[in-house]
Amino acid sequence: MIGTASERNHDFLRSLGAEPVTYGDGLADRVRDLAPQGVDVALDFVGGGAVDVSQAVLKERSRVVSIADGEVRAKGGHMVWVRPDSADLTALAILADAGKLTVPVDAVLPLPEAAEAFRLSMAGRTRGKIVLEV
Ligand SMILES: NC(=O)c1ccc[n+]([C@@H]2O[C@H](COP(=O)([O-])OP(=O)(O)OC[C@H]3O[C@@H](n4cnc5c(N)ncnc54)[C@H](OP(=O)(O)O)[C@@H]3O)[C@@H](O)[C@H]2O)c1
Repeated sequence: MIGTASERNHDFLRSLGAEPVTYGDGLADRVRDLAPQGVDVALDFVGGGAVDVSQAVLKERSRVVSIADGEVRAKGGHMVWVRPDSADLTALAILADAGKLTVPVDAVLPLPEAAEAFRLSMAGRTRGKIVLEV
């Protein structure tokens, strides 16, 4: 498994079992160095040009899945949307109770600081969730 992040998060990616690479110019080459035969599947969580880079490193007949770029469908990939679903949330809660699912929390802010929470979120550099305390 290969994951993209800035260098400050590379140890975090390693802790998740991923080989870290830095995103930006030359990303496709860095991935090819680690996976010369191509990757089996690419997951795009950022949008922008990520789908094109992902396709450039895929094995033949493999696909990109994106949560952030609707254009992926026109390029032969899959778009996935999260929907609130009580059965799925219950399943996730059971995994969390069993310690099999952890949710990193980047910041906990009181509700009156919701604007600051939004600013943090829009900066696109958080690692995990931002929690608003009510
Ligand atoms: N389809 C759905 O149902 C669904 C659900 C939720 C979210 N989304 C979408 O998913 C996207 C991600 O949202 P998010 O809440 O996870 O967080 P986010 O704040 O957009 O992303 C934060 C992380 O992305 C990394 N990052 C930033 N630019 C990057 C790039 N060019 N390449 C690789 N990594 C990059 C940052 O790593 P560093 O700090 O290391 O740079 C940071 O850890 C958003 O576009 C959001 O709208 C879709």
